[in-house]
Amino acid sequence: MLGIETSCDETGVGIVRGHELLADAVASSVEEHARFGGVVPEVASRAHLEAMVPTIERACETAGVRLADVDALAVTSGPGLAGALLVGVAAAKSLAIALGKPLYGVNHLAAHVAVDQLEHGALPDPCLALLVSGGHSSLLRVGDVTSEIDPMGSTIDDAAGEAFDKVARLLGLPFPGGPYIDKAAREGQISIDFPRGLTSRRDLERHRFDFSFSGLKTAVARWVEARQASGEPVPVDDVAASFQEAVCDVLTRKAVDAAASEGIEDILIGGGVAANSRLRVLAEERAAQKGIRVRVPRPKLCTDNGAMVAALGAEMVARGRTPSQLDLPADSSMPVDVVLV
Ligand code: KG4
Ligand code: ZN
Repeated sequence: MLGIETSCDETGVGIVRGHELLADAVASSVEEHARFGGVVPEVASRAHLEAMVPTIERACETAGVRLADVDALAVTSGPGLAGALLVGVAAAKSLAIALGKPLYGVNHLAAHVAVDQLEHGALPDPCLALLVSGGHSSLLRVGDVTSEIDPMGSTIDDAAGEAFDKVARLLGLPFPGGPYIDKAAREGQISIDFPRGLTSRRDLERHRFDFSFSGLKTAVARWVEARQASGEPVPVDDVAASFQEAVCDVLTRKAVDAAASEGIEDILIGGGVAANSRLRVLAEERAAQKGIRVRVPRPKLCTDNGAMVAALGAEMVARGRTPSQLDLPADSSMPVDVVLV
């Protein structure tokens, strides 16, 4: 199964055989976006166009297969940036027609869940997925990953990774900010009490499993401004540690609460923010208190890649799902419970 991913700024082409990973080729345009402090959709689309064919070739080379050996294809149909998705969908359709092989248009979020099968084997059914990246922050109840994904909550404003990137920017750290905050936080103290979004008793009534990070981002900005106005240096490491703790505290608290409320014994964390060292530790600590296990794929599989799409495609075949029509869309706002188009 060959999978293609182009929903954001990574051109990913992965090849798998069942749960076995054969190749995971990724070309990222992140450096082209760095000076803008965020992903520029048009720049990402053009980069996908340039990277697509070489990345497919690289994946085949690594896997030691020819395109003609591929049995089926899968592609991210959505959600994501419209122009970026179109490049991947057009490439996948072309290959499917040229090779005469079936094509599965799949949901990016479900692919973030399915990828864990490449590392830890079959997914527990059910499991609770916490997906946190620059584009999404969701809590999902997952049964059969090819058809049963129920959203329990999501962010009502910024995504978790977006909050990391914005706070990094105001601390003068490079883009994308997550890894830099993670690193700075290791040198700092959790000494500032930043707000935990949507955790007050009133908020919990309506938004028990939802997230909000924009108030936190503003609180950090105000704190830094006040420091600068007083003429004192900004303790970047302490701010990073305190901000990171506020994010990880809410993410892990809500994920464990969601799993426990559904009687689910396995939490799976995915998306770029899953690479955060504090998130992993806190999630395991808090889940263990409730007898819940935590699975996190290795960082390269957590960030956007083609192997995750191939992993979901392979599961589609294993479960006997009908392939997509060749006029399948690139759907920038594909609903999370639509796994296959
Ligand atoms: O999944 P991903 O590669 O792309 C999408 O956004 O879909 O996630 C990228 C996000 C960025 O916001 C980045 O800052 C964040 O993941 N990130 C991290 C860490 N590594 C990457 N956030 C916190 N801690 C990290 N170690
Ligand atoms: Zn993603």
